[in-house]
Amino acid sequence: MELLDENIAILGAGNLGIAIAEGIVEEGLKKADQVYLTRRNLKHVAHLADQGFLTVEDNKLAVESSGYIFLCVQPKQLASLIEQINPVLTEKHVLVSVITGVSIDEIKGLLKVDVPVVRAMPNTAIAIGESMTCIACNDSKELALTIQKVFNSLGQTLVIDEKLMQAATVLGASGIAFFMRYLRAATQGGIQMGFHSDEAQLIAVQTAKGAASLILENGNHPEVEIDKVTTPQGCTIAGLNEMEHQGLSSALIKGLMVSYDKIKNIK
Ligand SMILES: NC(=O)c1ccc[n+]([C@@H]2O[C@H](COP(=O)([O-])OP(=O)(O)OC[C@H]3O[C@@H](n4cnc5c(N)ncnc54)[C@H](OP(=O)(O)O)[C@@H]3O)[C@@H](O)[C@H]2O)c1
Repeated sequence: MELLDENIAILGAGNLGIAIAEGIVEEGLKKADQVYLTRRNLKHVAHLADQGFLTVEDNKLAVESSGYIFLCVQPKQLASLIEQINPVLTEKHVLVSVITGVSIDEIKGLLKVDVPVVRAMPNTAIAIGESMTCIACNDSKELALTIQKVFNSLGQTLVIDEKLMQAATVLGASGIAFFMRYLRAATQGGIQMGFHSDEAQLIAVQTAKGAASLILENGNHPEVEIDKVTTPQGCTIAGLNEMEHQGLSSALIKGLMVSYDKIKNIK
């Protein structure tokens, strides 16, 4: 089944579902009238119907008319959604789940037919085409690559083993919150040094973007870029060492591990 031949259904067109749908159309993978969007309250997607998206309440209709089915509801809403679509799912469909913490086996356990299932873990930057999306598929490598094509249009992607999906959730999806906290702290420091909050925020945010872009573009280890900024006996190394004395790296790693332990025990 070629991705380009089939309609796409986004079941649960909330924050993430809408961002995926808009990205797919913006990148020309599909036209709006080849993308079904479902939710129980259609008034929230009326503006997308105006743009040509096929907005419907009926999940079965969307599934019957599509090949690729994106599951974008909250984890607790999944079982009843699958119950609705089970009568119309066939082996020809492909399910793509972005639902946090629900394994491929758990999804397959709810299905009445043997449908290939791909898991994808994007982050909220998908709304601006800057997601980091990790993808796992136990059915076929080819299928993982097909779905990777969709998410490539919405940021960077990596195909991973499903056993790393929880780690990917912490590092990539929760990671947005962790970096936001750094940005807030840097902004507060900037204000204490004399900037207005909007100026401090712009300096902090653009500097963070520049730091990330340097690594993305040249592939250097972060320490190589740090060496370029730390003059002997200068202000940068003094600040950096004080941050480490206060446990910066240790706090970050410990926070990631606490988050990871938590996600492993969420059920
Ligand atoms: N946000 C993130 O950073 C992120 C990252 C990776 C993965 N995820 C996962 O992605 C999923 C969606 O997240 P989100 O932030 O987009 O949540 P959301 O905004 O709550 O979207 C879920 C949507 O599903 C709709 N829905 C619920 N039951 C439905 C049903 N039976 N049929 C059709 N539509 C239904 C809801 O709308 P109605 O109430 O109108 O039906 C709602 O708009 C979650 O499982 C989350 O864990 C989120």
